[in-house]
Amino acid sequence: MPLAAPAAIESPRLLIRPLAHDDLPALMPVNGDDEVTRFLPYATWRTPADAEAWYQRIQSLQAGGGALQFVLVEKAAARLVGTLLLFRHDENSRRAELGYVLGRAGWGRGLMTEALHALIAHAFGVMDLRRLEAEVQPANVASTRLLERVGFVREGLLRQRWVARGQPYDVIAFGLLRHEYRSP
Ligand SMILES: CC(C)(COP(=O)(O)OP(=O)(O)OC[C@H]1O[C@@H](n2cnc3c(N)ncnc32)[C@H](O)[C@@H]1OP(=O)(O)O)[C@@H](O)C(=O)NCCC(=O)NCCS
Repeated sequence: MPLAAPAAIESPRLLIRPLAHDDLPALMPVNGDDEVTRFLPYATWRTPADAEAWYQRIQSLQAGGGALQFVLVEKAAARLVGTLLLFRHDENSRRAELGYVLGRAGWGRGLMTEALHALIAHAFGVMDLRRLEAEVQPANVASTRLLERVGFVREGLLRQRWVARGQPYDVIAFGLLRHEYRSP
């Protein structure tokens, strides 16, 4: 069975809802910032066509049933501040991987910690997953601290696992099991 998209997931400051095509202009300042995309596997958006190409890639991922792309809306300002992805869903093993991106204006305010707790609770609850995974480049300190803060365990270094922008790079593999997760 494919992953079922919730209408929305709420946390105190955020609304986490499925991506819509109309969200693309508001995502331009997020994915159009070199500082934000520094550790991401896709190039910084420069034009609306880059946004559209990303959207089409996400659509094909979702069509396979193994991925859900969300956007993060800061409720107080009704502003779109980032994205959250659940992907590489393996139905038999009841596991999936997390990806997350926050626009620079939102950094350091605990927003992604809050978003991850809300999504993890949903993934281990309603979705009945038993393991979540994430991969992070060692130099991405903000991301490794974020994962450890919400309870992920460092499981090892995957050497030269990926090539992006012509360069091979290592990633740290993180994992979180349902029985070890503690909500805040
Ligand atoms: C990684 C990212 C999502 C963190 O989001 P955030 O909302 O700023 O993180 P939070 O405020 O919830 O903080 C989480 C932890 O990271 C730490 N942190 C946040 N930004 C940091 C930075 N620039 N340097 C070091 N630590 C940082 C926080 O101090 C906190 O750790 P602590 O509890 O030990 O103090 C955000 O920096 C981002 O979107 N980066 C660009 C995209 C990206 O790299 N995505 C991940 C790809 S694997």
